[in-house]
Amino acid sequence: PSHDNEGDKDFVVWLSEARLIKDKFEIDEMQKAIDSTHRGFEDMIRAIPNAVGKKRGERLIEGAFFTRARHEGNDIGYDSIIAAGSHACILHWIKNDGELRDGELILIDAGVEVESLYTSDITRTLPINGKFTPAQRKIYTLVYEAQEAGIKAVKPGAKYRDFHNAAMAVLAKGLEEMGVLPVSAEESLKPEVGLHRRWTVHGSGHMLGIDVHDCAQARNETYIDGVLEEGMLLTVEPGFYIHPDDTLFPAEYRGIGVRIEDDILVTKDGCINMSGAMPRHPDEVEAWLASLWK
Ligand code: GLY
Ligand code: MN
Ligand code: MN
Repeated sequence: PSHDNEGDKDFVVWLSEARLIKDKFEIDEMQKAIDSTHRGFEDMIRAIPNAVGKKRGERLIEGAFFTRARHEGNDIGYDSIIAAGSHACILHWIKNDGELRDGELILIDAGVEVESLYTSDITRTLPINGKFTPAQRKIYTLVYEAQEAGIKAVKPGAKYRDFHNAAMAVLAKGLEEMGVLPVSAEESLKPEVGLHRRWTVHGSGHMLGIDVHDCAQARNETYIDGVLEEGMLLTVEPGFYIHPDDTLFPAEYRGIGVRIEDDILVTKDGCINMSGAMPRHPDEVEAWLASLWK
């Protein structure tokens, strides 16, 4: 059948919209994908000490996750992003040929796809030597707080756009306090201004399911411009990226890129963080790494 056939287009939209609300089977499959991804992240963390300083160390991390995904699931749900140091500032860094260096961060965005083809989509940003520097902790904590604000905004009846706006409000305020915004956070947050977007760059989430960017053909009124309903499943993933040549920031901040991404289910009266068993708070992240390196 021809792809410019009007009926085919309607069918594609219908299929995408039919996937907006997940049933119990789908939610259970997603939890399996998330739990397997959690194990895969722990495999990657265990692989970090041996990868430090090695040529293409990022690929040693990628391989650790791939083994878990192929063993427990069908495959990886999308190319794993293994971004050490300033590679984190390159949004879809999938070349993964860089080196892990003591004192830098590693941003890892990876998901296991289970046999039923449902995939998780999770990002953690970890200190390679186990401890955040003060500058890394400051940016990490800001992203953590933005993500917390985003997750709080996920509930039935909320606009889809609310969680992104809630996360952006926190990041813009942080930029204002760090003295790098030429306007107030409030001014920057106006759609026609958006100066904070220099460091935040991407949207704060998307629907998740059989496709990593699920429901992508849904009409704006049912998705982007729509309202959250019980059974929707989405990522909340604010990020903050300071390029190595960004002289608006002091030297110790340059090259820091942080994203934290979790898989969130809209419930009857709020939401559940389905990947919430994976540590996110900076203190918990440090304790997590220490426990796996004992
Ligand atoms: N891993 C792709 C994304 O986070 O959207
Ligand atoms: Mn995502
Ligand atoms: Mn992701």
